[in-house]
Amino acid sequence: MTVAVTGASGQLGRLVIEALLREGEQPIAVVRDAAKVADLAERGVEIREASYDDPAALDRALAGVDRVLLVSGNEFGKRVAQHTNVIRAAERAGVELLAYASIPGVETNPLILAQEHRGTEEVLNEATVPNVRLRNSWYWENYTGGLAHAVESGVQYGAAGAGRVAGAARADYADAAAKVLTTDGHAGKIYELGGEALTYAELAQAISEAAGTPVRYQDLPQADYAAALEQAGLDANYAAVLADADAGIAEGVLDVRSKDLENLLGRPATPAVEVFRAALA
Ligand SMILES: NC(=O)c1ccc[n+]([C@@H]2O[C@H](COP(=O)([O-])OP(=O)(O)OC[C@H]3O[C@@H](n4cnc5c(N)ncnc54)[C@H](OP(=O)(O)O)[C@@H]3O)[C@@H](O)[C@H]2O)c1
Repeated sequence: MTVAVTGASGQLGRLVIEALLREGEQPIAVVRDAAKVADLAERGVEIREASYDDPAALDRALAGVDRVLLVSGNEFGKRVAQHTNVIRAAERAGVELLAYASIPGVETNPLILAQEHRGTEEVLNEATVPNVRLRNSWYWENYTGGLAHAVESGVQYGAAGAGRVAGAARADYADAAAKVLTTDGHAGKIYELGGEALTYAELAQAISEAAGTPVRYQDLPQADYAAALEQAGLDANYAAVLADADAGIAEGVLDVRSKDLENLLGRPATPAVEVFRAALA
């Protein structure tokens, strides 16, 4: 069986390649710039270059592939067309299973971030390639970029009110994806994936525990939080997207309660405190 991973130069894709190697597979890493994965090539991983914008290159990349993970891209506004290119190439290649890394509750998820996942899943609903949805909730790593500031100031800011966010380590989602790619019976399935569900007050508590110093949560109105992120140096659009995500979390849109992740992993997902401890080490 030949397994390929797109976005293999990215953080999730790399972890899936590592998980597949641990499983004894010989995965193909599909990337748009081979130079970024020279280390993987040195370790014997087959690299195939293809941009999501290039159907002919995608045909070459997926030739002979039985199962593929489509990692969603990061070029906002272009992604439905790009993902459609990968889906069509998988159909032409006769791929037996395409796994798509999506977002929870995509049909009704109001987050800005969910829009292109919804568009992609709508294409998958009509696609002829057998497919499985890996609806990944938040990475705990989404909070590690601001960890040093939170620890230093003793305050973790957000706009999620008392809403809960189900998170897991990026590596947990990668291990679950590798499991789906290497075992049978997943075609047509929709997995809603998330680990422990924390309020932002509990998240601040996890940061305190990891850092050994008190950190409290300060809730801000959505617009103020977006402004604070912008002031901290984020691009205005990205700040708005993150503040919108927090507003969605306040409404419970990432409060995943299914046991799908734990069941696929055969173990509990990694607690936030462990991810924060590792990031601070
Ligand atoms: N669940 C969450 O909390 C969460 C958080 C952030 C993002 N996400 C989503 O999950 C995806 C994976 O997460 P990540 O942390 O691995 O993100 P990442 O590190 O940004 O990886 C994105 C990957 O997609 C590739 N890519 C983007 N546009 C492409 C194109 N046009 N053609 C070919 N490859 C393309 C990138 O290639 P290059 O290396 O060449 O750029 C990279 O390998 C993200 O792209 C995003 O859609 C989810």
